[in-house]
Amino acid sequence: MRAVICKAFGLPDSLSVGELPIPAIGETDVSIQVFACGVNFPDLLIIQNKYQFKPELPFSPGGEVSGIVENVGEKIKHLKSGDRVVALCGWGGFAEKVVVNASRVFPMPKGMDFINGACTLYTYGTSYHALKDRAQLKAGETLLVLGAAGGVGLAAVELAKTMGATVIAAASSTDKLAICKEKGASHLINYSSEDLRTRLKEITNDKGVDVIYDAVGGKLAEQALRSIAWRGRYLVVGFTTGEIPQFPANLPLLKGCSIMGVFWGSFAEREPQQSLQNFGELIALMKSGAIKQHIHKIYSLGDSPHALQDLMDRKIIGKAVVKVGDWSKEPVIQKEKITLPAEKEKTAPKPIHIHLSDIKNHVGRSIGVTNWFTVSQETINGFANATQDQQWIHVDVERAKQFLPEGKTIAHGYLTMSLAAKFFYELISIEGVTTSINYGLNKARFPVTVKSGDRIRMTGKILSAEDMLNNGIKLSVEAIIEIEGNPKPAYVGELLTAIY
Ligand SMILES: NC(=O)c1ccc[n+]([C@@H]2O[C@H](COP(=O)([O-])OP(=O)(O)OC[C@H]3O[C@@H](n4cnc5c(N)ncnc54)[C@H](OP(=O)(O)O)[C@@H]3O)[C@@H](O)[C@H]2O)c1
Repeated sequence: MRAVICKAFGLPDSLSVGELPIPAIGETDVSIQVFACGVNFPDLLIIQNKYQFKPELPFSPGGEVSGIVENVGEKIKHLKSGDRVVALCGWGGFAEKVVVNASRVFPMPKGMDFINGACTLYTYGTSYHALKDRAQLKAGETLLVLGAAGGVGLAAVELAKTMGATVIAAASSTDKLAICKEKGASHLINYSSEDLRTRLKEITNDKGVDVIYDAVGGKLAEQALRSIAWRGRYLVVGFTTGEIPQFPANLPLLKGCSIMGVFWGSFAEREPQQSLQNFGELIALMKSGAIKQHIHKIYSLGDSPHALQDLMDRKIIGKAVVKVGDWSKEPVIQKEKITLPAEKEKTAPKPIHIHLSDIKNHVGRSIGVTNWFTVSQETINGFANATQDQQWIHVDVERAKQFLPEGKTIAHGYLTMSLAAKFFYELISIEGVTTSINYGLNKARFPVTVKSGDRIRMTGKILSAEDMLNNGIKLSVEAIIEIEGNPKPAYVGELLTAIY
């Protein structure tokens, strides 16, 4: 099979393209025809023999692939030939075929293409685990991301934004920072021209940052730690500068802060249930359009040494991906792409599934966006009948044509508000709940009226989850209802729900 080959440890220019034997398949393995392979920083380390895993020479690098299952080992029942999958193979992905233990092969989510399939699990998986499980980032907190335009860094920026944090992105160029801004960063620091500590002081009004996500290490690490807030959390993620920082122990003492290690690979192995749950949540966020990988460039297999060189030269923003194999045998990629926000109405979003015991971990997180729903005259009439509120502005179509703006009737404000509860159950399903009562609304505002025929949809976010008597939980969900084509929302408020 055709592959990129590492014959002797060294830099990307020492790699060659040639033939390697097809690897043998064991009884718990899966063999995959590779369609795409993500380019990740560990690929650079593994070819230099600087990574924790050390394959025997000669080998092919490439640790994250997407493709189609060719064969499965005797003991594998949950995957079969022809399945579209993503896999974390460690190495061997810059090749036409790879054999991977089935525990690291996952069905590719519906709607995901091979390019995104090959570069999503690793970056978002790492950053989600870091922010959610390790730092327990909360809405309203500040997060500093060092190396914010890299693979894991940009995923952290985007995820933190969906979790309701204020993101400070730090990177080495204005081009890189511009993409961080697009992904939701509120503040930008160019650490090749600005002093990190001074800028952090200005941005946080001397308070310091609550959470630091460090993918680079080196000199910036101690500067960042000196700028952390009281009870802050410092996430040790990677050392792309090549320098492992050494912190004076008085710093965490003085700041009352924690320095936390992040090792996503080990987490996924040791805590598989939690890891699968994280995948599920990430897929829901992708489907809702809340997160989307930034693809910098797609390289051919023969060009993958250049892809690694570009990564090493800090030229990649977000992800680089290598396209492998013969794509003419596969249905056209455009047929299956991740749903963009503007296209959401074509496919119903699936509700996020979580367990009641996990609800507090979702505080500060988006629960996604619903489909568009048309508020027809029939809907308005139905509400008018049910509430016996028959005011002419709602139900008299002929009179509305003469007297009301745009000649259309107006939906009752309470109708718009009551739809928030309907939308809520479209977005989230909470396992373990036996009873739920939507018992009120808070801080309701109606910036724009909804007219007959308008299409509306709701974005939801869990604001708080407080214990109540009898093991109940009081949920407060931010509900923002927008009208298609109108920049101002129709409704902004908090939906209060008691769940037992
Ligand atoms: N702990 C875990 O579980 C885990 C999981 C995945 C990855 N990681 C680690 O996280 C780090 C980032 O991975 P990644 O895939 O996001 O890498 P990446 O896409 O290459 O991004 C790394 C960023 O580091 C910065 N950088 C600073 N000095 C650099 C140098 N000398 N060479 C290359 N980049 C440099 C670059 O940004 P600027 O140019 O803006 O400085 C670059 O955007 C790696 O160390 C990787 O091993 C850890």
